[in-house]
Amino acid sequence: MTTDNTLSTTSHKPRILTGDTPTSTGLHLGHYVGSLENRLRLQDEYDCYFLIANVHAFTTLADKPADIRANTLGIIKDWLAVGLDPERSTFVLQSEIPAIAELTFLFAMLIPFNKVMRNPTLKTEIETKGLGETYPFGFPMYAVGQCADILAFRPELVPVGEDQEAHIEMCRDVALKFNQMYCGVGNRVPAEEHAKANSAGAGGLFPIPRAKIGRVARLAGLDGVNKMSKSLGNAIFLYDDAKTVQKKLNKITVIVDEATKRVAQNHVLLQYCDAFLAEDRAKAIRAEYASGKEMMHGHIKAELGEAVNALIEPMRARRARLEASPLPGHLGGDEMVIDVIKKGVAKANVVAEETLYEAKKAMDMGFLKRKIS
Ligand code: TRP
Repeated sequence: MTTDNTLSTTSHKPRILTGDTPTSTGLHLGHYVGSLENRLRLQDEYDCYFLIANVHAFTTLADKPADIRANTLGIIKDWLAVGLDPERSTFVLQSEIPAIAELTFLFAMLIPFNKVMRNPTLKTEIETKGLGETYPFGFPMYAVGQCADILAFRPELVPVGEDQEAHIEMCRDVALKFNQMYCGVGNRVPAEEHAKANSAGAGGLFPIPRAKIGRVARLAGLDGVNKMSKSLGNAIFLYDDAKTVQKKLNKITVIVDEATKRVAQNHVLLQYCDAFLAEDRAKAIRAEYASGKEMMHGHIKAELGEAVNALIEPMRARRARLEASPLPGHLGGDEMVIDVIKKGVAKANVVAEETLYEAKKAMDMGFLKRKIS
């Protein structure tokens, strides 16, 4: 069986897929350095698919459908404000892509139940969200669903935060198993060779996707202890105004060791210098702090404030435009967002339907080819 060379593609660029679950809205600097920055950078080089996992949101918020809907529309506005571009990239709404649900069921047959239940990302979520023993069957099922989110689009790369690595690993296992079981790919074929488009390819339907982790895997919050997070109240949001950004930075406590006159190397102020200042400048500041000389923390905070504000100013401006009333003849607000969804879903269904049909053919179920319009 041949794969990529016979499947239609909308682009010759290699593909990327990543996504967000609409359990909340409100992007902050942690999201930016952990994932958004990667997405923005990759938009030109790759054929990008950005997915909103609104069905997955029901695994923990089944009784709050209105919240899920509002968060779904809110996340798309967040994406647009940050600079993700629906003209260059494809925005995918999970609930409108039937192939994803169908692939989920097929893939569920390729993963041992116990392996799903040992998935460390799921285990951590059960703990941190206090799900106890009461979570629905659909909760662990979402990990299988995530394999389908990804493989429906046959991407090479999946830019995600570190916490998602276990899911990507599971997705790789499923793709390997599918290719071996149904496409005749030999056990010894290396992952990179499974779905090569050239004639030397091994004939697998699915490329074995790789995770791409952000530049800063874990950005500390303003408290200097926890990960930056909306719920912990230690975040700088991408839409904070310039003054708020500076005020928040000014509140960072800098603890200088009395004896050595030094600040811990992993102090949050230094972490932010690494994350938001030019590399040379961050190194120079680190060196000064390490030398034990008396430092003007306020100056460093001001420098950081300037850098962060320069970074997020265009996002604030785009956000303001999105929230302003639309020009005559243009869609605004939720209507505009729904229009973006419509266009993305149409493009996404072409690819996902094709994947599903190829998968069913490989599984000897290629009875009928359907068309979704
Ligand atoms: N589970 C991911 C998260 O909570 C969101 C997600 C759903 C995702 N489907 C995906 C991420 C597919 C990458 C690829 O962050």
